[in-house]
Amino acid sequence: MSEYRYPNKVPFRKFILNSSKIAKNPIPFQNKWLKQNNNSFYVRPFFRGAVIISCNKDVASQMLQKKHKDFHKSKIQTQFLSKYIGYGLLTSSGDYWLQQRRLIQPGFHREKIKNLVSVIDLAIKDQLKKVSPNKELELYPLMNELAFEVVAKSLFDFSAERETLKRLQFIIEKLQKFITTEIRQPYKKLGFYVSGKMRYHNGLVKESRDIIEAIINQRRTSDTTHDDLLQMLLDAQYEDGSSMTNTQLIDEILILFVAGHETTANALTFTLTLLAKHKNILEKAKKEVEEIASNTNNPLGAISNLKYLSACINESLRLYPPAWITDRVAINDTELGDFYIKKGTMIGVSIYELHRNSEYWENPNDFIPERFIEKPEFVKADYYIPFGAGPRLCIGNNFAMFEMVLTVFEVLKHYDISTTTNQIKVNPLITLKPIGLTLMFKKK
Ligand code: HEM
Repeated sequence: MSEYRYPNKVPFRKFILNSSKIAKNPIPFQNKWLKQNNNSFYVRPFFRGAVIISCNKDVASQMLQKKHKDFHKSKIQTQFLSKYIGYGLLTSSGDYWLQQRRLIQPGFHREKIKNLVSVIDLAIKDQLKKVSPNKELELYPLMNELAFEVVAKSLFDFSAERETLKRLQFIIEKLQKFITTEIRQPYKKLGFYVSGKMRYHNGLVKESRDIIEAIINQRRTSDTTHDDLLQMLLDAQYEDGSSMTNTQLIDEILILFVAGHETTANALTFTLTLLAKHKNILEKAKKEVEEIASNTNNPLGAISNLKYLSACINESLRLYPPAWITDRVAINDTELGDFYIKKGTMIGVSIYELHRNSEYWENPNDFIPERFIEKPEFVKADYYIPFGAGPRLCIGNNFAMFEMVLTVFEVLKHYDISTTTNQIKVNPLITLKPIGLTLMFKKK
């Protein structure tokens, strides 16, 4: 590897020695090795080429943005995920991805998403009615259901039966769990076949696709007009005037469910907990909410004026980015930051560590929403990428921000929140999941 320049190597035996702890939570190990090795290290597992882990802003921005053509997504994100959730925007690559992105992108423009705000707002209000006040509740299941409902209603307006959506939610969650187990414990694969788990999960994939296809077919024959994402996907036309087949539609819809609900549920859980834990910040947010609520009934107007609340959400996404790591593989030998790497090298950018890197952030581990008020340009910094960067930037970023601002707005409008949670614990699966965070909602 003489002509190549790699970061310092962490011997693979250190991974083997700690494999069970790393399988449970790789973050403490990544943190230690990144700190010891100037923000990037590499490891060479015996079964594949070099893997670099980095929290350097130049590595991140070149890989995702400035030199994105030299990299593609790894098999984990493409082949592996697509086995279960189909070949849609998140899991496809190359020309097919570009064609789909061009087709779908217009439906997610800020202006278009504004049309969905009333649907999103209604779904949030309906869900919050289910909160049992005055007792400490586990927050994640509540936010998960809320985020699922918001995506479901935005996709299908009100065309799908409750029971059908519940079943779809159950299946998607089962598949997500199974995917993580398979990624973390690949050596159990044979056991999954023998025990019938693989067959069971493949059956769930088929069932979820059948459910979505039935909704699509029903919509194709309906004469009512709908202003939802499904209609946008059905109406979207390629340059030659054709539109998506049912298989393509199912793939894209499954991806929107998967990419769009767990991420937002995690972010909402972290944000409300952080607010409840920081009384001064909570008071400031409540004051803003009261002011805005007394001046407008229009959710869209509220969103654009809730500056402090948005800063709280940005700061929560900094500390607990739901997409905590992303990867790419070098297509050619290429320069990357200070390194010169070989074709086939896999790079994992730890968004979690980038967001807490003390070279870029003051008091990186503290919850300080004011930093986004004093320097709004932080949201565009190379070292702040909760929604990724470059051409594969999250297509749902505006959707997610609208949904999160409206949810926290509604919660603070109607409830006093508090928590007995001392330490925020995380479980870094495909997304960064909160562990056991609880919240008390007291009706105002
Ligand atoms: C807080 C919430 C969210 C976070 C933190 C988040 C984060 C991300 C990140 C980091 C990526 C890029 C991954 C990469 O480059 O490897 C991504 C891609 C994507 N996200 Fe999101 N996301 C969120 C919400 C949503 C929502 C609500 C939707 C849809 C309704 C959505 C749909 C997608 C899709 C389809 C992609 C793939 C885009 C492409 O490759 O062209 N996301 N998201």
